[in-house]
Amino acid sequence: MSMRDRLALYSSNRLKLGLFGPNCSSGRAVTMVPERWSGGWDDCLRLARMADEAGIEFMLPVGRWKGYGGDTDYQGETLETVTWAAGLLAATERITVFGTVHAPLIHPLIAAKQFVTADHIGQGRFGLNIVCGWNEGEFEMFGATLRDHAARYEYAQEWFDVVRLAWSEAEDFDFEGRYIRLRQARAKPRPFGGTRPIVMNAGASPAGQAFAIRNCDALFSMTPKGKLDEFATHVANVQALGSVDVYTVAVITCRPTLREAEEYYRHCVIDNADWAAVDRIMAMRGVTREAFPEDFEERRYHQANGMGGMPIVGDPDTVAVELGRLAAAGAKGIALSFVNYLDELPFFADEVLPRLMRVGLRETKPG
Ligand SMILES: Cc1cc2nc3c(=O)[nH]c(=O)nc-3n(C[C@H](O)[C@H](O)[C@H](O)COP(=O)(O)O)c2cc1C
Repeated sequence: MSMRDRLALYSSNRLKLGLFGPNCSSGRAVTMVPERWSGGWDDCLRLARMADEAGIEFMLPVGRWKGYGGDTDYQGETLETVTWAAGLLAATERITVFGTVHAPLIHPLIAAKQFVTADHIGQGRFGLNIVCGWNEGEFEMFGATLRDHAARYEYAQEWFDVVRLAWSEAEDFDFEGRYIRLRQARAKPRPFGGTRPIVMNAGASPAGQAFAIRNCDALFSMTPKGKLDEFATHVANVQALGSVDVYTVAVITCRPTLREAEEYYRHCVIDNADWAAVDRIMAMRGVTREAFPEDFEERRYHQANGMGGMPIVGDPDTVAVELGRLAAAGAKGIALSFVNYLDELPFFADEVLPRLMRVGLRETKPG
């Protein structure tokens, strides 16, 4: 097993696919429909095995500590992501499972050892998503203060430097940073197989993206709705600055016909969104009707459908074409979400994956 295999997520598919958010109640869909995702362990375990079997490359959890309220307490129940990953890695064979870790909330030596433990359990299939935080309420709950934006990424740099040292051959190392100081630090064993976990970050600001370009193998970026050109330019800009793969996020509503898909979208998002939660999430991010008078309603639908991920609604042909367009714009991989991942993944795997194979974006299912 080489670093190249890890970075390829153990598959030769040109377009990598993953599942985003299944460790949280309601996943990414801010809806009240009764079939919304439970986020419970049994469902996660069944999903991971199903995804592994279908050749899906990764699972990406959301690091969330406090629900968003509303009628459903959206994402009010969440499974902690590194322990979640460890459990899923023990129960699967090929899939890479990420932990999504708030750097400021956990000591880097403890974190590095947890990652190594999960990585040994998965025999080299643990991945790390570093997040710096943006949600003040969550930080207050820990008695922690959200640093100003630039300092968040300065702290994250020291934190990740320590994690990297802990993963390396270094023994009894001192670390003298502005925020972190360590004496005679030691962490054994190394990650599985003498390589290291794939590392990603989803910074959107210049500081966040620069952090990813400097430190990470992958940068996750939202695709602005209907603006594939902007996404393609973004990928080109990022790749001019460093060797990092750009992944994106899509929200799938796939049904046998376009009409059925549109009806289900309308049912979940337009008729039954948890609007109280949607408006709260948007207000937390400063998205108000006053600030965005021209497209506030559209932003609300977008948030309700999948927290801003690119909405793809249609029959299998349409969905495959849209995923292909994201790949053509430069996405190395796409993290997908569904209203109910377990109910919807089989149809997606049976109908959309073969279409992606036919256009050369994916190869045959793993044996
Ligand atoms: C795919 C993706 C996954 C993310 N996952 C989380 C998460 O689980 N927890 C969290 O607090 N923030 C998460 N974020 C937020 C980012 O880490 C980041 O803070 C945000 O994109 C704003 O960028 P900035 O930090 O550069 O300002 C995610 C963002 C994206 C696009």
